[in-house]
Amino acid sequence: METLIAPSVLSADFGHLAKDCDMLNRSNADWYHVDVMDGVFVPNISFGMPVIKFLKKHATKPLDVHLMIVQPERYIKDFKAAGADILTVHYEACTHLHRTIQEIKAEGMKAGVSLNPHTPVSVLEDIIEDLDLVLIMSVNPGFGGQSFIPNALKKVADVKAMSKDSNPNLYIEVDGGVNDKIGPQLVAAGANVLVAGSYVFKAEDQEAAIDSLKA
Ligand code: DX5
Ligand code: ZN
Repeated sequence: METLIAPSVLSADFGHLAKDCDMLNRSNADWYHVDVMDGVFVPNISFGMPVIKFLKKHATKPLDVHLMIVQPERYIKDFKAAGADILTVHYEACTHLHRTIQEIKAEGMKAGVSLNPHTPVSVLEDIIEDLDLVLIMSVNPGFGGQSFIPNALKKVADVKAMSKDSNPNLYIEVDGGVNDKIGPQLVAAGANVLVAGSYVFKAEDQEAAIDSLKA
C-alpha cells in the first residue's frame, strides 16, 4: 500500500479556509484530516458541523474525521450528514466500542479507532477485524504543534503485527508531531497514513511539505 498523507486542517488559516482547501485539492495530499474537539475529552475546543460542511463543499478528497469527544455515538448520523467519509472515535471515549463501530459502518462510513499515548495496542485484539483504520496518537490529543512521543513507533509495529493476517488492508494512521524526519521511520514500522498539521501548514511551500512526507 502506498503511503497516504492526511494534512490536519486544525493548523489551516481559518480566515482563508477556501484558499487552503484549494491548496490541498491541488496537492498530492490524499485525505483531509479533520479534528473535532469538545473541551471535555480533550482540554481544547476546535470546530463542528458548520466547518465540516464547508470543507465537504470545497474538498475533492475524502474527509478523515477524528473525534476527540466523549460519547461520540450520539453524533454518528450528524457527522455522516456533515460529510465525513471516515469516522474515528477514541477507544477511551467508548463504553460500547463494538456497537459504535458497527453503527459507523451502517451509515456507510469507514470506521476507525484511536488510541491515546498511554493506551496499549492489546486492547484492540477483539475488535481489530472489524476496523477500517487504527489511529495511533503520537501526542496527547488536544493541540497541534506538539512533539512526537516515540512510543508510537513500537505501537505501529504492534498494530501491524496484530492485523497482518486478519486485516491486511487496515489503515494504520499516526497523528501528532509528524514531519519528514519521523515519517519514514513510521512507514518502516508499518504506518500507511501520516497526519501532519503544523509541518504542512507552517511550511513556506505547503505542497512541497506534503510531497516530502509522500516520498
Ligand atoms: C491533535 C490532533 C492532530 C493535530 C496534529 O490532537 O489530533 O491531528 O492537528 O498536529 P501536528 O501535526 O502539528 O502535531
Ligand atoms: Zn487528529
